[in-house]
Amino acid sequence: MTDRYAVIGYPVSHSKSPFIHAQFAKQTRQDLHYDAVEVEVDALAEALAHLHAEPYRGLNVTLPHKVEVAKHCEQVSARAQLAGAVNTLLRTDSGWRGDNTDGEGFLRDLKRLGYAVRGARVLVLGAGGATRGILGPLLAEQPALLAVSNRNPWKPEALAEQFKAVGTVLPRTHLAIKGDRYDLIINATSAGHTGQMPRLPGPLLAQGGACYDLSYGSAFEPFAAWAREQGAQRISDGLGMLVEQAAAAFEIWRGVRPDTAPVLAALRS
Ligand SMILES: NC(=O)c1ccc[n+]([C@@H]2O[C@H](COP(=O)([O-])OP(=O)(O)OC[C@H]3O[C@@H](n4cnc5c(N)ncnc54)[C@H](OP(=O)(O)O)[C@@H]3O)[C@@H](O)[C@H]2O)c1
Repeated sequence: MTDRYAVIGYPVSHSKSPFIHAQFAKQTRQDLHYDAVEVEVDALAEALAHLHAEPYRGLNVTLPHKVEVAKHCEQVSARAQLAGAVNTLLRTDSGWRGDNTDGEGFLRDLKRLGYAVRGARVLVLGAGGATRGILGPLLAEQPALLAVSNRNPWKPEALAEQFKAVGTVLPRTHLAIKGDRYDLIINATSAGHTGQMPRLPGPLLAQGGACYDLSYGSAFEPFAAWAREQGAQRISDGLGMLVEQAAAAFEIWRGVRPDTAPVLAALRS
């Protein structure tokens, strides 16, 4: 019987995961089928039990279930606990094992692009779920400093507290970073989805600095325009992260790591 996998979310029809995993399966000659399953907020527990019984071998989890799904896992990896979110489920005989590959995917993409984190002054804009997922991997790379700035000033304070056993996160507000200079600025806000950009105070990027946005497609455009105004030599969107986090999930499920380059190229074309 062909092994079955799926992404669950609401909505989920826009998801690129079915395309990405179909490409991975073809490339690595794995016999599997990958669906997109729409699961409403109130139907999560029921859907997980149903998909387990089917049986699905693994699931990707997207919005709005990434936080809630951890409560339905029999085990949650250390990195998913730190991120406070689960994006990958592996079926066991008795339930689901939760993991989070977003941070790994993000870091692999930064390395693919040749962005240096070690010794760099790094600023992360936004303090939501995506920021929580990337802070652990960023701290592990030993930046000179890692600041998190957000519209709501309390969220960076809370993150600094949550991550203090892992490393130092400097909590900032968009006003308080005025006059600072950073070598790498990472946009982890969802502002681009409404065509917006966080209100930031003047120049923030050091000469020769780089900018990276977790968003892609039209949601990337406002940050890309701001980064160009800052004089960034290198600006990247989060499509590579999307493919890399999917590759990490695929490896958890199938024990083989696919080549991400041709899949990213196919998505871009
Ligand atoms: N490439 C990938 O694989 C990947 C993976 C995960 C996420 N992402 C992307 O990462 C982004 C963030 O996702 P998330 O899950 O962290 O979302 P989230 O938990 O809802 O957090 C959203 C963040 O954006 C800020 N924000 C929203 N609108 C804003 C505005 N107009 N001005 C200033 N700040 C604003 C929020 O600030 P407040 O706290 O002040 O409201 C909050 O910090 C999304 O674009 C998502 O698509 C990409």
